[in-house]
Amino acid sequence: MEALTDDADFALAPLPTRTGRLLLFVAMQAEAEPVAAALALKSVGPDASGMSVWEGKRAATVVTLVTAGRDPLLGVDRIGPVSAAWTLTTALVAQRPDLVVNIGSAGGFQSRGLAVMDLVVGSCSQFHDARVALPGFDRAARAHTRLSLDGRACSELASALGARHGPVTTGSSLDATPAELAWFQASTVMAKDMELAALASVCRAHATPLVALKGITDLVDHSEPTAEAFTRNLAATTARLAIAAPTMIDWLIGAGR
Ligand code: ADE
Repeated sequence: MEALTDDADFALAPLPTRTGRLLLFVAMQAEAEPVAAALALKSVGPDASGMSVWEGKRAATVVTLVTAGRDPLLGVDRIGPVSAAWTLTTALVAQRPDLVVNIGSAGGFQSRGLAVMDLVVGSCSQFHDARVALPGFDRAARAHTRLSLDGRACSELASALGARHGPVTTGSSLDATPAELAWFQASTVMAKDMELAALASVCRAHATPLVALKGITDLVDHSEPTAEAFTRNLAATTARLAIAAPTMIDWLIGAGR
């Protein structure tokens, strides 16, 4: 598989000149609550599908935050690319936002100088566990997509947030196989999550811009089991994301541009 660089097959729409409606997608309830509080959003409860929804305003922009909610049988957050795709599609069709923003946790790479609690502004996304050995289908399945900030804007937003910026890779698993680890090492990937490439695919289908901020809960290229580091660091990393969220949203809706 080709190394993940910023040289993507697809590109999302650029940032809008005016953001009347902004839709924030956050995967987990534990990540969403501090972000909603930092943005003074009010919970408007789960919708019929179980999606959790918060609403509020930032200057003249209506901000809605959604998560996929919890699995009704297992009681755990509906994380991963499938839940991310259906949740975002449902919310996009209902709200027609001018901009989608993804905030959430990710694994980072100590070989790229990242540490737990660091922030990464995503430049592009790709599925690292999509293997389809058929011409055209392979690239479609990988969905290597440039997000809506160009190189200069990525670096300006990253400086405003004290963050790094770079490619994010997405898969259905929290951990990584030895082959995936080798591929990450040969690429320029900065962060690994379970949602962003799915959100980018939905945004591409709906011609809607997308920007992402990831907070590092664990180090992918470290010997500690991912689940242990993730569980220990989730609250502190989410607190850091929540502090960054208002600055990021204000920057995106125009105050900082
Ligand atoms: N979210 C937080 N850490 C992650 C990891 N290592 N892989 C995928 N998603 C994550």
